[in-house]
Amino acid sequence: MKSNNELPSHIAIIMDGNGRWAKKRGLPRSFGHKKGVDNLIKIVRYSSDIKLKCLTLFAFSTENWKRPKEEVDYLMQLINDNLTDIDSKLKERDIRLRVIGEETNLSQELLSKIKYIEEKTKDNQGMILNIAFNYGSRDEIIHAVKEMVNNNEQITKDNLEKYLYTKGCPPVDLLIRTSKEYRISNFLLWQIAYSEFYFTNVYWPSFSPKQLDKAIKEYQKRDRRYGGLSKKGK
Ligand code: IPE
Ligand code: IPE
Ligand code: MG
Repeated sequence: MKSNNELPSHIAIIMDGNGRWAKKRGLPRSFGHKKGVDNLIKIVRYSSDIKLKCLTLFAFSTENWKRPKEEVDYLMQLINDNLTDIDSKLKERDIRLRVIGEETNLSQELLSKIKYIEEKTKDNQGMILNIAFNYGSRDEIIHAVKEMVNNNEQITKDNLEKYLYTKGCPPVDLLIRTSKEYRISNFLLWQIAYSEFYFTNVYWPSFSPKQLDKAIKEYQKRDRRYGGLSKKGK
């Protein structure tokens, strides 16, 4: 099979399996989440090293509020801590950070941290990093439709895309889900219309840059036809 060396412009990852990673080691789920964040940082660094244009990571869904309060509180604290004093680190790599999702139910403290970091990094010219937190794709689409209606705009694909939280990023080229689940869980439904999907059994805390390379190599073998005919001359 022919392959090309083209890097995907936009990779999106459903970072799943923190809990099972911990359980397998006899550790509490919170430990898995902590390791998950460590790994997120590793993958962000690597993605910026390889000059990826956009990386969108699913960190907390609008459905994750169904989890026990203790776990939800831990995840809120974790993002809060990890958004503290990171603007210089992001500047070093010229990364623009956006936290995408709904504001509902998030604390004022967290919301102001998000606002601060987005403002501080908005002119960075390197990779765009979208952290999907309190994110649900159906809410995002409803939000976009409401914006079109409120602004008296025609309901068109282009207009809708102006209001997606991922605005400024091309559609997702490669969607990865870790941990042996084969579903989308309300992530980027619009943006993945023609994405290539890559599923792996590896739990998120163990998903290394090497694993990411493997996914990219697999992506480079795919024949993206978009409903047309192959350009690879097979
Ligand atoms: C993904 O890991 C992280 C979040 C959803 C916050 P999980 O917490 O879903 O881990 P599993 O799927 O239970 O192993
Ligand atoms: C999807 O994982 C959301 C995140 C990775 C943040 P879940 O673990 O919440 O998904 P389901 O419940 O297995 O579909
Ligand atoms: Mg899960």
